[in-house]
Amino acid sequence: MKFFVDSADIAEIRDLSAAGLVDGVTTNPSLVAKTGRKFFDVLADICAAVDGPVSAEVAATDFDTMLEEGRQLAALAKNIAVKVPLTRDGLKTCRTLAQSGTKVNVTLCFSANQAILAAKAGAAFISPFIGRLDDVGEDGMELIRDIRTIYDNYDSFTTEILVASIRHPRHVTEAAKIGADVCTVPPDVLRKLAHHPLTDRGLEAFLADWKKTGQTILNR
Ligand code: G3P
Repeated sequence: MKFFVDSADIAEIRDLSAAGLVDGVTTNPSLVAKTGRKFFDVLADICAAVDGPVSAEVAATDFDTMLEEGRQLAALAKNIAVKVPLTRDGLKTCRTLAQSGTKVNVTLCFSANQAILAAKAGAAFISPFIGRLDDVGEDGMELIRDIRTIYDNYDSFTTEILVASIRHPRHVTEAAKIGADVCTVPPDVLRKLAHHPLTDRGLEAFLADWKKTGQTILNR
């Protein structure tokens, strides 16, 4: 499973990347706005910091402008994946960009039928927002199960399932059990994945007992 960082905060991305936890990055207009920085400066920093795919979302909603924006974003760096919303114009933009070799991440997916259309449009990634489905009382993980089942039925569907809108470590576990290709994880959740209180307690006990032996490993 690949872990992308779901953030536009370059300090967070650099910190997590240094820990070897980052296979890519996803941004969206809200995450970029949160930085208070210029979009193109944010993208330049992220693309320099991470080798994997960096999702950069268009801001237009009509095909012609989305296509031009997508082309300009794709030209920024070889690891840019252009993000388009799951709308008719977004799918048309996805198809056109994909045909010219640009990786496209189709975002704001909330149904299996939307995911089918994204795969047919040649999307490199589909981003189902599971947390937002949970927020309205639906079962976000059920959507991931449905998409995995459907995509596995067709060799022509090569789109990677990029689970988004992740709220807690359990979402990552469930997504991995289903066989999703990528989880895009907020920095605080990514840091929680390694944590378990019994690990901390066990390590504390090991070190206390080791100290009692009066021995060292280095300079023995
Ligand atoms: O990548 C999409 C993600 O940023 C959306 O998350 O928490 O706004 O639903 P959230």
